[in-house]
This record gives sequence, C-alpha cells and structure tokens, in this order.
Amino acid sequence: MPQPASESPSHSDVAARAERRWAIVMLGIIALLVAMVVFTGLHWAMMPPSRVETVDPATLQLSGEFTEANLGSAVEPDGSVTVRIVGQQYSFTPQCIVVPAGTPVTFRVTSADVIHGLMIMGTNINSMIEPGFISTFKTTFDKPGDHQMPCHEFCGTGHQAMWANVKVVEPSAFTQLADHARRLTCDL
Ligand code: CUA
Repeated sequence: MPQPASESPSHSDVAARAERRWAIVMLGIIALLVAMVVFTGLHWAMMPPSRVETVDPATLQLSGEFTEANLGSAVEPDGSVTVRIVGQQYSFTPQCIVVPAGTPVTFRVTSADVIHGLMIMGTNINSMIEPGFISTFKTTFDKPGDHQMPCHEFCGTGHQAMWANVKVVEPSAFTQLADHARRLTCDL
C-alpha cells in the first residue's frame, strides 16, 4: 500500500526547507571564518601584535645600543633605569646586573646568536630572547635582594650553565654607584 499522497510531499518539503536553511547557516559560518582569516592575516601583517623592535645581530658589538660599553644599567633623565643585556652561547653580558629597589626599571635584551630565554626568579619577568629582536619589559623591584636569572630556553650544550644575577640595592647605594659610572654592573 503506498503512503498517503497528501502527507508525504509536505514532509519532504519541510525537510528540504530545513536542510536549505541549515546549509545557508553553514555557508554563513564558513564565510565568516574565511573573512576572519583574511582580515587578521592582512591586518596583522600590516600591524604586528605589540611593539616589534629589530636589531642586526651581526653588528651588535660594533655599533648601536648593544655595544659592550653600553651594556648594564643606565640612569635615564626621568630617574628610571634602563638595563641593556646581550645573551649569547652560553652567558649573559653583563653577568651581574645591579638595579635600585622601588624604581621603574626597563630591560632591553637581545641575542647575539640563537634563541635564549630570560627569567628573573622571584618576579614575573619571563621572556624569549631572539636574535634580530629586542625584548623589552618593565618592572619595579619592591625590595633589595638577589635574584638568579637563568636561561630557560635550551640553546645548546652549555645551556644549563647559562645564567646571571640580578642584584637589587637600596636607591641611595645605586645613586652612589651611578655617580661614578655611566653604565653600571655589580663589578663597579
Ligand atoms: Cu641560553 Cu639556554
């Protein structure tokens, strides 16, 4: 016995309409995702996320901000401190960094060879150090003390021996040191 003719077509009509509706929704979702991919691709290609600063790793030691004489802590005109560090297989230069407590400190760090990591223990400073790029981070150390600063990115056979120290001193002690040198490290 065949199905009643009056019900069957209307059921399949309903099903077809529902399928079409969902097909349109699906196509809409796909179109939206493609549009997002195209937009973010073009947009971020023109405007990279955050601030990207580049530097030529081949000429770090020869000229510019990361020459050896310019590494270490520098007092800025506004009283804040900028620390410049170069990482290389398998050490940081300088080996011991001195900064004042309670003062805004900006770290500017790059690599002379491969990718390294920089982490100052007891703080939330944790960054990759990449050749060709300058990693920048700002912090204020609450109180005097010593922090270890290991390289936390495997960078070769000497990786586990790559680390430096950060010595946080009283602002007055730092000011005394700063009177005697343009760039400070623990050795001064
Ligand atoms: Cu440098 Cu690990």
